[in-house]
Amino acid sequence: MSPGKFLQQDPAKRAMLLTALYVAQEQYGYLTPEAIQRVAERLGMSALDVREAASFYSMYRTKPMGRYVLQVCEGLSCHLAEGADTLVDYLKQKLHIKPGETTRDGLFTLQTVQCLASCGTSPAMRVNDTLYENLTLDRVDMILQELRGG
Ligand code: FES
Repeated sequence: MSPGKFLQQDPAKRAMLLTALYVAQEQYGYLTPEAIQRVAERLGMSALDVREAASFYSMYRTKPMGRYVLQVCEGLSCHLAEGADTLVDYLKQKLHIKPGETTRDGLFTLQTVQCLASCGTSPAMRVNDTLYENLTLDRVDMILQELRGG
């Protein structure tokens, strides 16, 4: 699904929408139906158009997720760097979840995404707003340990 055609034709409105969605997500934790409705009302758009845009961009959460959302890039560069499959398999084994799932303690959600715009430093993974590049399994272990507070 791609964002509405009107957003492609109106960069200023798209920028306002993306910012409003970001702020709403920070406020609500994820883009609840209420958050979508409020953004739509503020920007004079339909809730359907706002929801469509929110589901198109991987940085927005449209359902409850863990405190840390691990987005592993499965794009071509990361795949060729032999990172994507290895990282996803490792995280699945380490966290006992599959992509799209959240750990029982609510700490981690695992997702796979297409290209984090870091192809030159692949493999890459984003955790919430932080991008990690040139990943190795050892670095993944360190990142998980830091996020767990240890
Ligand atoms: S393909 Fe992974 S960052 Fe672009």
